[in-house]
Amino acid sequence: MVFSRIDWYNYRKHHEYPIPITIMEGYMHEKSIELLNKAVKDELQATHQYMYFHFHCDDQGFDLLAGLFKRTAIEEMGHVEDLAERILFLGGEVEMETAGPTEMIHDVEAMLVKARAMEESSIKDYNRWANECSANNDAISKQLFETLVGDEERHYNQYDDEVRNIEKYGDRYLALQSIERSRNTAAGAAAE
Ligand SMILES: [Fe+2]
Ligand SMILES: [Fe+2]
Repeated sequence: MVFSRIDWYNYRKHHEYPIPITIMEGYMHEKSIELLNKAVKDELQATHQYMYFHFHCDDQGFDLLAGLFKRTAIEEMGHVEDLAERILFLGGEVEMETAGPTEMIHDVEAMLVKARAMEESSIKDYNRWANECSANNDAISKQLFETLVGDEERHYNQYDDEVRNIEKYGDRYLALQSIERSRNTAAGAAAE
């Protein structure tokens, strides 16, 4: 049974519940598309922010952290792709905007603290949104959010480990990374 707008208007005048199944399905998909697009914006913000951190760590000679931010940015971009595929499958449009501006942080410890906070916020949001999709009988979007939670928890841990290293070893930890770059550069020059 398919309801037209007029049918729906007349139906709502006389019945509060239950909502016809075709209308409910349309609403559920809209809700999923809205949540998936919110995640796209968060992922795009994370991609920009981590690439910005990658450039600056590289510029300051911290190769290990530069690599970590670059690899994570690429993973976040993969998340955008997964979300976009689901949005298109549900008949929505992908909203390619970032959730917020890129913060111009140059201090390495502050970068890691910011990145860890972004991951924490994504974990909370995606857990909530997985439950919301489940409540709307959208099992595949729920599964997608759960998979993303797993990845974001891994990202959270990697940033948390680095924050703890800096807290424990201070500038010596960062100095080691600079020395490592010099050693690699020297080894490369010697091999030529
Ligand atoms: Fe992500
Ligand atoms: Fe992440």
